[in-house]
Amino acid sequence: MGIELGLPVALKGTGMYVPEKVLTNDDLEKMVDTSNEWITTRTGIRERRISENELTSEIAARAGLAALKAAGMSADDIDMIIVGTNSPDTLFPGVGPKVQHLLGASRAGAFDVQAGCTGCIYALATAAAGIGSGLWKNVLVIGAEVLSKLIDWSDRNTCVLFGDGAGAAVLSRGEGSNAFLAVELHADGGKWDYIIFPGGLVEKPATHETVEAKEHSVKMKGNEVFKYVNTVLPGFLKKVCHDAHVEPRDVDCWIFHQANIRIIEGIQKRLKVDPEKSIVNLDKYGNTSAASVFLALHEGIESGKLKKGDKVMLASFGAGMTYGAILLQI
Ligand code: ACO
Repeated sequence: MGIELGLPVALKGTGMYVPEKVLTNDDLEKMVDTSNEWITTRTGIRERRISENELTSEIAARAGLAALKAAGMSADDIDMIIVGTNSPDTLFPGVGPKVQHLLGASRAGAFDVQAGCTGCIYALATAAAGIGSGLWKNVLVIGAEVLSKLIDWSDRNTCVLFGDGAGAAVLSRGEGSNAFLAVELHADGGKWDYIIFPGGLVEKPATHETVEAKEHSVKMKGNEVFKYVNTVLPGFLKKVCHDAHVEPRDVDCWIFHQANIRIIEGIQKRLKVDPEKSIVNLDKYGNTSAASVFLALHEGIESGKLKKGDKVMLASFGAGMTYGAILLQI
């Protein structure tokens, strides 16, 4: 079965923003013991954007503004702002209220969703549930990250992977059919130690020792994540299709979390999905965590690859471990 929302939800517009500074694999060769060849063949990433001094809230607001413009709406039309992020400016306040202030969205409530890279899917699902239940009419959903500030730039296992950026979508109460054909959210908390940011909070308050041990940065068991995702995601996505009464081959476009081209290709192969039916932009932006699916969705719409009525599967995974998918009819 797909999902049943009381009221139909429509995708009204999307937007994105990435910082100007480009960091290439060649640049990284000068910073850590790595090579363009290793990064390209193991991940597919060629370059990423790095925020020099823009905060997560600032790039989130820029993407949000672009999505409002595409939707033909003003900030005053928005009832709720939901930001998926793992790199908030500060632990609190969240990014959402700062975006609300920056956009002047005077009527809107605002909050953050922290669910690893799957934050994009969790945030979209929360927005759809709020609109479908009649609680909100217009919701601005944003995925935004400045992970470059949370990376250990001497750790080649992580620093080559991530990039900064923000993407956004406006969802509104629709007419007729519902854009959200299926929504599935999962967590596997037993795998909590696969991707962590260990230092600075309740478990390990900041001390000289935590700073010296570089515990205020992302630590990842990359190979474990890789194996886990390849094992779990194909079966999960088959089930999402099955429950929505759609064959994988009938999905018009697949937008996977832009973490690693080998993960994307592996899932496509297992699902027997034509690679031409996916949007891949990790070569340009790297892994932008909770922003990545939004960036690909926006570029797909902007380039004309995605057309009105297309069935688009959004799928992500990340720290938690969390994973989730949304089948959207745009
Ligand atoms: N340059 C050169 N060599 C490297 C680099 C690098 N940047 N990074 C690691 N290596 C080395 C390792 O040290 C290892 O060397 P060794 O064999 O001498 O020990 C070798 O390359 C192979 O390492 P593996 O970890 O086995 O490489 P793998 O093929 O698994 O690729 C990668 C690593 C790219 C991290 C992959 O595992 C991956 O993409 N995992 C998924 C990560 C992910 O998607 N995270 C997303 C969630 S993030 C979030 O939610 C915030």
